[in-house]
Parts: sequence; C-alpha cells; structure tokens
Amino acid sequence: MAKNSSLNNAAKAKEDEFYTQIRDIENELKHYRNHFKEKVVLCNCDDPQTSNFWRYFAMNFEFLGLKKLIATHYDAEKPTYKLELSRDVTGDGKVNEEDVVETKFTQNGDFRSPECIEILKEADIVVTNPPFSLFREYITQLLEYNKNFIIIGSQNNVTYREVFPLLKDNKIWLGYHSGDMAFMVPDYYEPRETRYWVDENGQKWRSMGNITWFTNLDIQKRHEELLLYKSYNEKSYPRYVNYDGIEVNKIKDIPCDYDGVMGVPITFLDKYNPEQFEILGIDGGDMGVSYGVGAMLNKEQCSALFSEHKGFRRGKLCYRDEEQKLQMCYRRILIRRKQ
Ligand SMILES: C[S@@+](CC[C@H](N)C(=O)[O-])C[C@H]1O[C@@H](n2cnc3c(N)ncnc32)[C@H](O)[C@@H]1O
Repeated sequence: MAKNSSLNNAAKAKEDEFYTQIRDIENELKHYRNHFKEKVVLCNCDDPQTSNFWRYFAMNFEFLGLKKLIATHYDAEKPTYKLELSRDVTGDGKVNEEDVVETKFTQNGDFRSPECIEILKEADIVVTNPPFSLFREYITQLLEYNKNFIIIGSQNNVTYREVFPLLKDNKIWLGYHSGDMAFMVPDYYEPRETRYWVDENGQKWRSMGNITWFTNLDIQKRHEELLLYKSYNEKSYPRYVNYDGIEVNKIKDIPCDYDGVMGVPITFLDKYNPEQFEILGIDGGDMGVSYGVGAMLNKEQCSALFSEHKGFRRGKLCYRDEEQKLQMCYRRILIRRKQ
C-alpha cells in the first residue's frame, strides 16, 4: 500500500485506494477457471506486496495452468517495478511465490505509461480493480489493445458514454457478482457516517452498494435465460409519452409476450442474455437523446411537459399513470425480446 505522504494526499483526493478482498476475488474468478490455461495474466493496478489479485493468481498458478503472471506497481511520484511469476526459478519442482522475479521500471507504473503498455501487449487477460476515477480511460485502453479482462467497477459506469455502447453491442458484459462489496482502505481515509468501519485489527473498511464486475470473457451466466411469467396488458405497462415503448419498473415483471420496446431498470444488465434480448439504448442526458428518447417530441411539447413536471428533461422517459399524472422514470435501458 502507498506510504508516501504526498502520494497519499493525491490518492485521498481521488479516493482510489480500495483494496479488494480475496474472498470476493475467489467468488468471482471461480467462474472463469477454464479461461486461464496457458495464459499470461496481468494485474496492472496492483501493488504486488498487498494486492489480493496477485495473491490469488500466485497461489493458484499451477492449479489454473497459467503461463505467466505479471503485476505492476503504481506510485504517482517515483519509478516502480513489476513482479513476474512464470517458471520454477528455485528448482524445487513447483512454481510458487519463491519464484517471483522483480524488475525495476524507469517509469511510475501508470497503466498508460509506455512501459506498462508494452506489458499490456504481452498479456492475454487483465484482471484487477482499477482506480475508480480512471475507469473510462482504463477500459478504453483495454479494448484498444484488444485484451480480455475481468475488472471491478461501479454500476454507475454502465451509463458512461464510453461504456454503455460496449454493453449494448455485446463487446463487454457484467460478471457474476453485483451489489455490495467491502474494501480495505488506507489508514489515512477519513471516518464516514455510513459504510465505514474499523475492524479488530485496526484495519479501516469502506463498503459500496453498487459494485459490479465487467468482463469480455464468455461465462455461463450470460447464456442463462431470465424466466418470465407475466403477461402483457395495457393497464400494468403504461406507454411512454416520449418514446415508443412501455415502462417495466421491475425486471421480474418483464412480460413474456410483448414484442415491442420495453424500458427496464439498469439492473437488467445483470440478467442480460443476448440470445434472449437485444439492447436498443438507454435514456437520460445526451445519451438518451442520441438513442432517440425524447427526440420524438418537438421543442414545444418538451416545454409543455417541463411546465407540467419540473423533473422533465429531454431524454428522460416519462409516462402517465392511471390518474393521467405525469411520472418520471429512473434511468432505463431499452430492450426488446428476441424472436
Ligand atoms: C481501487 S484500487 C485497487 C487496488 C488493487 N487492484 C486491489 O484490488 O486491491 C486502484 C489502485 O490503482 C492504483 N492506481 C491509481 N492510478 C493508477 C494509474 N494511473 N495506473 C496504475 N495504477 C493506478 C491506485 O494506487 C490503487 O491502488
């Protein structure tokens, strides 16, 4: 973990120091075991001295049949190093942490640095919890270099302009676990009223309720059908005022017999099977407008809706309830059942 005090201050400002528990790593990665054989795995935001990602792969090197494991260490202010594990250096007949080779960097281990990019090119699968504040850049780089990956991020990332089109086009998807996750945080992190505690060893913890895994490796989960047992009827599924589709406010209520466009909560992505549904777009902000939400209304119609409900925005889905009152929706993903 970072010790330098000015680095600590910089990191504190960004709040990027959240250390993943080995339990969470094991629970997710057990679903990807068949992908690792003969592969070079890179953990490129991982201080190998403390990272549980490094620990997980080093401990399971032979079990997973890895070809090579690399972890790079980042320090905002000075050159760092990488650790590699690939062969039985000590000659004791097994590959384990005794065989780790350290190589100094001339740069600071930033995942965007030329030194780290060279390592990225060598990797087959990148696995880590990258800095939350750099998620867009991080995932964009992985795709630019055509890498497979399993990474942690916030569920909010799914709505990013850089991320949503990748989900929509089935270039990336969500992994197995989404929701609450607790992370160890450095000592200098300030106490908080909620989602913060100190354990009996004095280790500070923070938890977040909106964490998810992103991957582009094929997993069984994305082939599992979502069971649908509700039938469509006009009363239960109001039509949007500003989009040609119906509102479905719970995933479990997606009708099994509706062929048109449906707006569903973002948590749908956790259940998304591309053989069962297609994703057409997302509402909200510019993204919504660029996907056609709100575009079907002219300026005057938008102004009229705004006068009726101050929460109205172009690109935000809304519908009329049974009393004809205008209701604004939370963020919605637009989907259609595949025939
Ligand atoms: C969310 S923490 C996760 C750490 C570790 N991967 C884990 O899961 O325990 C993100 C880490 O990325 C490091 N980091 C921040 N900016 C970075 C950069 N530009 N390049 C590489 N690593 C960076 C931070 O210092 C931090 O330790």
